[in-house]
Amino acid sequence: MLPNPKLELINSPSKSGEEIQYLFQGQSAGEIPHEEFEGKRETTVILRNGKQRIIFTGLGKKEKLSSVIVREATGVAIRQLLSIGAEEITLNLLGLSDHLASAVEGALLAAYHFDDFKPADRKRKNSLKILRFMVLNSKSEEMQSALLRGKIFGESINHVRHLGNLPPNEVYPERMAEESIKLAMKWKLRCHIWDEKDLIKEGFGGILAVGKGSKSPPRFIELEYQGGKKNQKPIVVIGKAVTFDTGGISIKPAASMEEMKYDKMGGCAVLGIMQAASRLKLPLNIIGLIPSVENMPSSNAYRPSDLVKSYDGKMIEVLNTDAEGRVILADAIAYARIHLKPEWIVDFATLTGAMIVALGTRRAGVFSNQDSLRDLFCIAGHQSGDLVWPMPVGDEYDEQIRSEIACVKNTGGRDAGSCTAASFLKTFAEETPWVHVDIAGTATTAKALPCIEKGSTGFGVHLTIEALESWTKKN
Ligand code: BES
Ligand code: MN
Ligand code: ZN
Repeated sequence: MLPNPKLELINSPSKSGEEIQYLFQGQSAGEIPHEEFEGKRETTVILRNGKQRIIFTGLGKKEKLSSVIVREATGVAIRQLLSIGAEEITLNLLGLSDHLASAVEGALLAAYHFDDFKPADRKRKNSLKILRFMVLNSKSEEMQSALLRGKIFGESINHVRHLGNLPPNEVYPERMAEESIKLAMKWKLRCHIWDEKDLIKEGFGGILAVGKGSKSPPRFIELEYQGGKKNQKPIVVIGKAVTFDTGGISIKPAASMEEMKYDKMGGCAVLGIMQAASRLKLPLNIIGLIPSVENMPSSNAYRPSDLVKSYDGKMIEVLNTDAEGRVILADAIAYARIHLKPEWIVDFATLTGAMIVALGTRRAGVFSNQDSLRDLFCIAGHQSGDLVWPMPVGDEYDEQIRSEIACVKNTGGRDAGSCTAASFLKTFAEETPWVHVDIAGTATTAKALPCIEKGSTGFGVHLTIEALESWTKKN
C-alpha cells in the first residue's frame, strides 16, 4: 500500500531542547544511560510513558551530519514505530529544521510496505495516519516548501517501488503504457505510445526483435514535461523496461529467475523522475522514453545469429538473446538523438550482472561520452544518497563488440561486461552527450535498508532530480 498520511507542521515549544521534556513530561534525554544509547547511526532507543512512546534515533557524528543521514535516521525510527503499531507520529527535528525535506522523504519511504497480495489476516494492521514535524517556524514559506519537496520525493519514489514490486503477470508492456498515461493525466505531462503496428511502421527493429517472443506485445512510451521555454532543447531520460527477462532463447537458469521481474526498474525510474520533475516545476523541458518488452523464448522469439536493424539503420548481430536491454535501448537512444536533438541523454538500465560483480548492490556505475556530464551525476550521487561510481568507456571496449558481419555484436565476451554494454549504447548516442547508469545492483535490495524495505528501491529518481537541478544552476 502506498502510504498517504496527513502531513502537518507544528511549532517547537522552545528553542533549546526543552521540547523533549514537554513531550515526555518530566523525563529528559539526559536520563538515557549513555551505555544504552550512544546516538550511533541506525540505532534507536524507545522510552515509554503510558500510551506514548518516545524514540530517539541516532545521527552519528555531528561533523558528518547530512541530509542523507537525517533521511536514514528518520526511516529507521519510523519503521520501528510502525512495527510496534504506531499510527500517529510526531518527529521533533530539534535543531535540524534545515533537513525537513529529507525527514519527510525518509518517513514516507519507510512507511511503504508491499502487502497488497497478502491474505487480510496477515497484512500489517496499522498504517501511518498522521505524520507531524516539529520545527521552529512552521508557518514560514521555507518550511512549507520543504515539506512539499519531501512529499514529492517520497511519493514519486514509492510509486516507482510499488510498480517495480508488482509481478510480471500484472505489469507487462501494455500495463507500463497504461501506467504512463495515468501518470501523464495526473501530473500534466504529454504522453505518446507506440504500439506494435506503429513500431513496425517506424522501424523500431530492436524493440520489435526482443518483443516478438512474447504474447504480450511491446510498447514504446514517450512522456513530455515542458517547464522551460518552447524553443529550449530538451533533456532526455530513458529507462529499460523489460517486464520480465527470461533470457529468451539464451534462457537463464531457473535459480533466481524470479528476480527478473525487476528488469523494468529503469523504466519505472523514468516514471518517477517525470512525476517529480513536473511536481517540482523544474524550469526545463524533459522527455522520458521507455522501451518496454517481455523477453521470452518461443517459436517466434529472436535468436542468436539474427541480424537486427535498429531505429537508425545500424545492424546489430545478436549473439545472446539475454543481452536484450541494450538492443531495445539502442532504438530509444537513436530515436532521441535523431528526433529530439537533446541537450543530453541519460539512460537507466538493469543492464548487466557484471555491474554487480564490479561495484556490488549499493553503488551504480556511471558511463558517459562526456566527462562533465559524468561528473554531474557523480556529484549528484553523493548529494542524493543514490550512490554511483565512474566507469570507463573507450575505443578499447568498442573493439570487443565490433561485428564481422554487421555494425555491432550484442555481447563482447566475459571481460568488462558492463563496459562493453556501455560501449554498445555509446554507438547509438554518437556525438550527442550521453550518460548511462547501470542499476543492475542498486534497483533492488535483498535486505532492508534504513528507509527501504526489501524489494525495489526507486534508485535513480533522487539522483536525476539532483543532477537536473545542479545542471540548471550551471546553465
Ligand atoms: N537484466 C539482465 C542483467 C541483470 C542481471 C540485472 C542480474 C540484474 C541482476 C540483462 O538483461 C542480462 O541478462 N545481461 C546479461 C548480458 C550477457 C548475456 C552479455 C548478463 O549480465 O549476464
Ligand atoms: Mn537479459
Ligand atoms: Zn535484462
